[in-house]
Amino acid sequence: MTLAALNSPVDLNQSQLLIVGRQRLEGELQVNGAKNSALALMAASVLSREPIRLQNMPDLTDIGTMAKILVSLGMGFHLEGSSTVLSGGGITRHDPSYDLTRRLRASFFLIGPLLARHGVAKVPLPGGCRIGSRPVHEHNKGLEAMGARISIASGVVSAEVRGNQGRLQGCPIHLDYPSVGATETLMMAATLAEGETVLRNAAQEPEVEDLAGLLKAMGARIRGAGSSTIQISGVKELHGADHAVIPDRIEAGTFLIAAAVTRSRLHVTPVESSHLNAVLAKLEAMGCSISPQGQGLTITTLGQLRGCELRTQPFPGFPTDLQAPFMALLATVQGDSFVTETVFENRLQHVAELKRMGAQIHTNGTNVAILKGVPMLSGVPVAGTDLRAAAAMVIAGLAADGVTHVAGLEHLDRGYTRLEERLQAVGARISRIDATRTALLAA
Ligand code: UD1
Repeated sequence: MTLAALNSPVDLNQSQLLIVGRQRLEGELQVNGAKNSALALMAASVLSREPIRLQNMPDLTDIGTMAKILVSLGMGFHLEGSSTVLSGGGITRHDPSYDLTRRLRASFFLIGPLLARHGVAKVPLPGGCRIGSRPVHEHNKGLEAMGARISIASGVVSAEVRGNQGRLQGCPIHLDYPSVGATETLMMAATLAEGETVLRNAAQEPEVEDLAGLLKAMGARIRGAGSSTIQISGVKELHGADHAVIPDRIEAGTFLIAAAVTRSRLHVTPVESSHLNAVLAKLEAMGCSISPQGQGLTITTLGQLRGCELRTQPFPGFPTDLQAPFMALLATVQGDSFVTETVFENRLQHVAELKRMGAQIHTNGTNVAILKGVPMLSGVPVAGTDLRAAAAMVIAGLAADGVTHVAGLEHLDRGYTRLEERLQAVGARISRIDATRTALLAA
C-alpha cells in the first residue's frame, strides 16, 4: 500500500459514492413505489391463502429481506410481468428467524397477520437501532386487548389465541402514541377478528391508508383509515387481490430537496402532493417555487433561500424520515434555522457529519438543532449512519465544493434504488465505487 493510500480518506473496505458537488440538476426524476407501504402490503399477504399481486414494488434490499422472511414461512413468491405475486396458501410456520428479522424492523409487523390467520405467532423483538429504542409495546398491548396471550422470552415475542377457535376478538383500542407500525399491525389483525375493532389515536400516514386499500380489496371491512379513528369489522376470510403501491413520498421529498440544495429546476413524478404538504410548505416558505405538472411537481429554485423552523411530527406533520436530508439543505441557506426532532429520540447523528463538511450546527441535547447557514459546504469523506442520514450526506455532497465520499451505502440501498444512476441522469456528477475498486484506486 502506498503512502497516498494511507492518507486516503476512502475506507478501503467499504463501497462509496463519490460526488463532485455544485452541479445544477435539470430534467425529470421518477419516483418509485413507497418502501414503507410495500413492506406492510407484503405483511398483509399473510392474511390470505390466495395470491396477492402487487404492482409498482420498489427494488430495494429491504423488500428482498422481507421476501426472504415470508418465503422462510412457506409463502410462495414470484414475479409475473411487472407484478410481484405472494401466495400464502403454503404458509406452515409462524416463527421468522432472528437472523432475518434483525435486518428489518418492519418484520415485526408480521405478528398481527400471523396471529390473526393462524392463532399463533413467534416474532423476535426488533430491538433498538441508531435512531432510537423502537419499542413494540403498543403492538403487543393491542393484540392482548384482542384476546392474545403475549409472553416475551429470550428476545422473542410469543403470541397465542387460546379459545374462540384461535380467533382474535374485536375491541376498542386506544394507542398512547399514533405508531405507524402498531396501527398497521392491529389493523391487519382486526380484519380477521370476530366483531368490531375501533383503533383510536391511530397513525394517519398515507402508508396506513394504502394498506387499508389492499385489505379492502381482499374483502376486509375498514372505515376511516387515514384519519385518527379506524373501524374494522372482522370477516372470516380474506381473498386474493391486485394492488398498486403508492409513490414514495420520502423519495419524492428527497428529490425536491436535491433540487433546492443545488438551486435547480426538476420535475419529480409521480407525486401525491397531499402526502407532502408539510414539506412543500417549508420549501415554499424558504423561497422555492413548486407547481403541479401532470402527475408530478416541478420545483424551481433561483437565488438565495431562507432558513426556517421545523418540527417533526406524525403525519400530516413534517416527516421524521425527511428531517436529516432537509437539515443538509438548511445548512446551506441564508440565516438561522431551528430543527426539533420529536418522533425518535436519537435522530441527529448526521449533525456530526454535516459539521465535518463545514456546517454550523449547535445541538441542544439529542433532539434540537440550531443551524446558521454557510455559503458553502466542503466535500470530505462522510458516512451515513442510517438510511436517511445517508441520504442527507448525498444531499450535502451535491451542494459541496469539491469531492464528497459517502460511505454507509448498505443503509442508503435499503431505501433508494440506484440513487446515483438516477441523479446522474439529471446532471449530478456522482458515481459508485465498490469496495474492491476503492482498494485498487488507493493502492
Ligand atoms: C415507521 C416507518 C419509519 C418512520 C416511522 C415514523 C415503516 C416500515 N417505517 O416506523 O420509516 O420513521 O414510521 O414515521 O413504516 N413507539 C412507541 N411504542 C410502540 C411503537 C412505537 O412508543 O409500541 C414510538 C417509537 O419509539 C417512536 C414513535 O413511536 O418514537 C414512532 O414509531 P413508529 O410510528 O412505530 O415507527 P415505525 O412504525 O417503526
